[in-house]
Amino acid sequence: MNTADAREAWNARYAASEFVWTDRPNQFVEAELTELGPGTAIDLGSGEGRNAVWLARRGWQVTAVDFSAAGLAKAGRLATEHGVNVVLVEHDALTFDPAAPVDLVLVSYLQIQRADQAMMLRRASGWLAPGGKLFVIAHDRSNIDNGYGGPPSPEVCYTPEETVAALGDLHVDRAEVVERVVDTDTGPQTALDTLVIAHRPGSR
Ligand SMILES: C[S@@+](CC[C@H](N)C(=O)[O-])C[C@H]1O[C@@H](n2cnc3c(N)ncnc32)[C@H](O)[C@@H]1O
Repeated sequence: MNTADAREAWNARYAASEFVWTDRPNQFVEAELTELGPGTAIDLGSGEGRNAVWLARRGWQVTAVDFSAAGLAKAGRLATEHGVNVVLVEHDALTFDPAAPVDLVLVSYLQIQRADQAMMLRRASGWLAPGGKLFVIAHDRSNIDNGYGGPPSPEVCYTPEETVAALGDLHVDRAEVVERVVDTDTGPQTALDTLVIAHRPGSR
């Protein structure tokens, strides 16, 4: 699927007024970033803004980047509901460039082709200020055979090994497959995610 088709598919998916995912932050984002003091952040592929708004509510200055206008519109409404400001940027994640280095880049379930993932991760790593953190959470490739939900195509899934290999000179703090329990009508199911947390050496 080319970029224009992918954008239209996401816009269609976000057309309904309810949230496709949830308005709550991802559980690993919440667990790992709660203690991190606020600064500047980019949420790359921010979708409906659940993570961006959560960060903004904790004092972060967040730029939410997504190529879906429909997703960003919902993120804007969620920010307004919570009385916070999030800068919304409609842009392709593969070509976006921030104006200045940031303290946090969040990449949460950004489903792009495997061939593009390394380039995106290398660029995102380069946006970090000294001490800045890169946080990647994504559907792990092993989820297709052994986990619940997620995309059926291995081409848009990640692995900790491939993610780490793309990070250049960042220091890797965590790189593993993590289990995410999903409540379903038939009971809890387990999804398998790639989690990678890394930082640029130096202090903020
Ligand atoms: C599975 S959703 C995840 C949304 C959000 N990060 C979250 O965790 O709730 C993937 C998002 O990535 C966006 N996306 C996919 N490819 C993109 C690209 N090339 N540039 C910008 N956004 C993209 C989609 O529009 C969609 O909002």
